[in-house]
Amino acid sequence: MTTAELAERYLMQVGRRLPVTFVRGNGCLVYDENGREYLDLVAGIAVNLLGHAHPDVVEAVSRQSAALIHTSNLYFTQPQVELARRLVELSFPSRVFFCNSGAEANEAAIKLARKWGAKHRDGAFEIISATGSFHGRTLAAVTAGGQHKYSDPFKPLPEGFIHVPFNDAAAIEAATNEKTVAVMLEPVMGEIGIIPAAPGYLKRVREWCDRNNLLLILDEVQTGLGRTGRWFAHQHAGITPDVMTLAKGLGGGVPIGACLANERADVFEPGDHGSTFGGNPLACTAAAAVLRVIERDGLVGHAAEMGEHLHASLQDLGATDVRGVGLMQAFQFEEPKAKPFQLACLEAGLVVNAVDDSSIRLVPPLIISAEQVDRAHEVMRNAIK
Ligand SMILES: Cc1ncc(COP(=O)(O)O)c(C=O)c1O
Repeated sequence: MTTAELAERYLMQVGRRLPVTFVRGNGCLVYDENGREYLDLVAGIAVNLLGHAHPDVVEAVSRQSAALIHTSNLYFTQPQVELARRLVELSFPSRVFFCNSGAEANEAAIKLARKWGAKHRDGAFEIISATGSFHGRTLAAVTAGGQHKYSDPFKPLPEGFIHVPFNDAAAIEAATNEKTVAVMLEPVMGEIGIIPAAPGYLKRVREWCDRNNLLLILDEVQTGLGRTGRWFAHQHAGITPDVMTLAKGLGGGVPIGACLANERADVFEPGDHGSTFGGNPLACTAAAAVLRVIERDGLVGHAAEMGEHLHASLQDLGATDVRGVGLMQAFQFEEPKAKPFQLACLEAGLVVNAVDDSSIRLVPPLIISAEQVDRAHEVMRNAIK
């Protein structure tokens, strides 16, 4: 049986896969089971910030796995506190809860907001989020995300989530009432096809939250850690959230999520929340290596530079809309040809991501070179034909 046949027989069919089986990678390149090379502009969906098999991540994971992989959170472990300290130093004064994915990080943020509402806002519990947003697949995260196709099959959904159009601060203001406890947004909507916050939007929402005693939760699961050309996307807007969630790129491919909350929002007490695996020594050591390399190699600035280069190169593909921030770019076709385009690129040795029938998302490793951007552009130009 082929790998695809085995997958059909033994795996729950929760999504469709492209007809390729990857077996190894190196930097921005991945290889299939026949040894064929691909340039990877998807990076495990914005995960592999340092590409594949980065020597510092390989060394950190090997060293830590030989020492201590997991202990649970019944005990202290050094890598976890060191990683928390580093994340706080890089972002804003806060404390960190570690988990294993973006959905779990958002679940923590939602629970935190509800407890904060119970404690400080007379039981307010409603969270306003954006139509079309994506916050993960747990029941609360899928309800917070404003996409019916992901939530409707699982009704009844948890109550207390209100959706308003993205980039419309007035809609948030109009939807706010005495039950509202928080606003939860992606600074750049990722999963739906890279829709950046409009200039001034996050600032106005921040001010609204301050004036009305609401928490601002920013989901930086996809935008965080250099992807947009700043350490965190909210830094472009000159604001700070009360709660920020991270995952994806943090562990260099090793699963880890994080929820950071400032002093005002940090209302968890012992027993409120937890995770068996969350922040285990292996994942935290991998994440520490990722942060160290991003800083040492100036990858935040590099991502900004390569993002501009990539954005400029996408202009001649005949797309109707090229949009994005840093190394988070997308373009849109007038006709529904994103999926055949994705397949044509794959056949030509380039991995891109069709987020729907008409748009393509590119979220390459932050280490991508200008030559690799040019090579990708060349393949895409040919695939268009
Ligand atoms: C903004 C955002 N939040 C949350 C998630 C969910 O993360 P995970 O798949 O790790 O649960 C994603 C995943 O695409 C995301 O893009």
